[in-house]
Amino acid sequence: MIGRLNHVAIAVPDIASASRVYRDMLGATLSEPVEQPEHGVTVVFIELPNTKIELLEPLGENSPIANFLAKAPSGGIHHVCYEVDDILAARDRLKREGARVLGDGEPKTGAHGKPVLFLHPKDFNGTLVELEEA
Ligand code: CO
Repeated sequence: MIGRLNHVAIAVPDIASASRVYRDMLGATLSEPVEQPEHGVTVVFIELPNTKIELLEPLGENSPIANFLAKAPSGGIHHVCYEVDDILAARDRLKREGARVLGDGEPKTGAHGKPVLFLHPKDFNGTLVELEEA
């Protein structure tokens, strides 16, 4: 069921500073920062040959990554995103297996315009998992 690693998302306190690290130290090609108010984050997309990195900076008052950065002020890996062919079939299978789907369990439109769901980190060894329909 699980497909390609679509991206690794890294929460950062300062996206300009984090962007410089990826661009200048690591030589990556970065997008401009993209504000996503509906998700409470500003995102920089980094294309690597085999996957993507997304830098996430809190945006607005109730950012879903604010608590994460309160606990990890210098930032850290926030979630990994795996592709699935059929997100509803994946969700139903995972629920049958006992995994908890966050929110109301209905897919939302993610950063790439595709349906996504998040799975509870306690069911995946402490890792927040995003599923994106490929
Ligand atoms: Co993501």
